[in-house]
Amino acid sequence: MFVNRDAVGAAPNMIFLNAAQVVTCAGPARARRGAEMRDAGILTNAAVAVSDGRVVEVAPRESLEPRYAHFTPVDCRGGVLMPGLVDSHTHAIFGRPRADEQEQRAAGLDYMEIARRGGGIHASVRDLRARTEEDLVALAVPRLQRLASHGTTTVEVKSGYGLTLEDELKTLHVIAKVASVVHLRLVPTFLGAHEIPLEARATADGRSNYIALLVHEMIPRVARQELARFADVFCEPGAYTVSESRRILGAARDAGLGLKLHADELRSSGGAELAAELGATSADHLGAITDDGIRALAGSDTVATLLPGTLLFLGKDRQAPARALLEQGAAVALATDFNPGTSPTPNFPLILTLAVSQLRMSAAEAILAATVNGAAALGMAADTGQIAPGARADLALFEIEDVRELPYWYGDHRCLGTWVDGRPAWSGGMS
Ligand code: NIG
Ligand code: FE
Repeated sequence: MFVNRDAVGAAPNMIFLNAAQVVTCAGPARARRGAEMRDAGILTNAAVAVSDGRVVEVAPRESLEPRYAHFTPVDCRGGVLMPGLVDSHTHAIFGRPRADEQEQRAAGLDYMEIARRGGGIHASVRDLRARTEEDLVALAVPRLQRLASHGTTTVEVKSGYGLTLEDELKTLHVIAKVASVVHLRLVPTFLGAHEIPLEARATADGRSNYIALLVHEMIPRVARQELARFADVFCEPGAYTVSESRRILGAARDAGLGLKLHADELRSSGGAELAAELGATSADHLGAITDDGIRALAGSDTVATLLPGTLLFLGKDRQAPARALLEQGAAVALATDFNPGTSPTPNFPLILTLAVSQLRMSAAEAILAATVNGAAALGMAADTGQIAPGARADLALFEIEDVRELPYWYGDHRCLGTWVDGRPAWSGGMS
């Protein structure tokens, strides 16, 4: 059952009992890296007290329960309680699914070739432009609830299927409206630089005019109206070049937005280096990152966000070099990239499976990458992504006995319940 915002009551005082494991991810309130990624903070026989939307105390049950006898007990039924998953990269506002393209790829057409023929992102742009805000809200709400049902409590949501001032603003208004309906923490990102719109590709100065529109009108307006927290660019051969991306993100920084970058997704073009140079909050994808790019991210505060569902779904035989990034000390996060073209899964635990099986991450690394490091990729690690006194009580409970079973039961649905700000958000059989 989903609890929508209008049904969310006051934050109850709760004490979570009977968890086989409480996976705290406790530690510094920032991205973890290096040896810090080895320990997800697994406690047995622990209870968690929550009040006013925040974690108050985590301690052995015998010590905690008597002191919080007046708090409402939540029976974790021998499951695993952990921080809610933080999905720091999605394109969740779109119209129709693009199942046709999956078949075209199976028949041998490449993702970027489909885009060159006017499909791909362009197909979703045509579709979104023709829809009303209400229509898009009605499509987005159940999709986001599906993400929530798998244990996700924070979702970054990008615009980027509008590519006109009007349609990008429409998308950002849809995100704001959806955020007022679903009981999830949503973080809006402006991705007007997701593609060069087809109409701009059709004329000699269309490309430079569109970039000027992004820099001089769209970004300042989005920032002024506080419709987005971040700006992002699809920096990729065939989409935006490194120098165009630098210019667009420079304007975003001047306007006070945080920076993100789709970097080196399919082919390397120096996107990771650019993200590090600009001090971007995250560089995402990195399937084709070079050794220089790895070094640049490892030496920076930019979070390397890996999206293994995307390369799997596109049928690629290569994944981002997670081990090299981790071993050189980069801050690594994981996310779904939920979108209609390259990663239509709402199932974040499935991404954890891919992290372990394809990216060769340990379960602890994958869990930290999907919680506190996801929060860091959204500039929110100060109080999100761990179960520790003072942190937001964003929690997820799974029907497993050992957290390693979360990536293990692949494709399954094991989430029993989530809480956002200490209030129930999704309940799959929890009372
Ligand atoms: O993250 N590469 C750019 N953006 C998305 C795909 C969007 C789409 O195909 O609709 C991505 O993979
Ligand atoms: Fe993306």
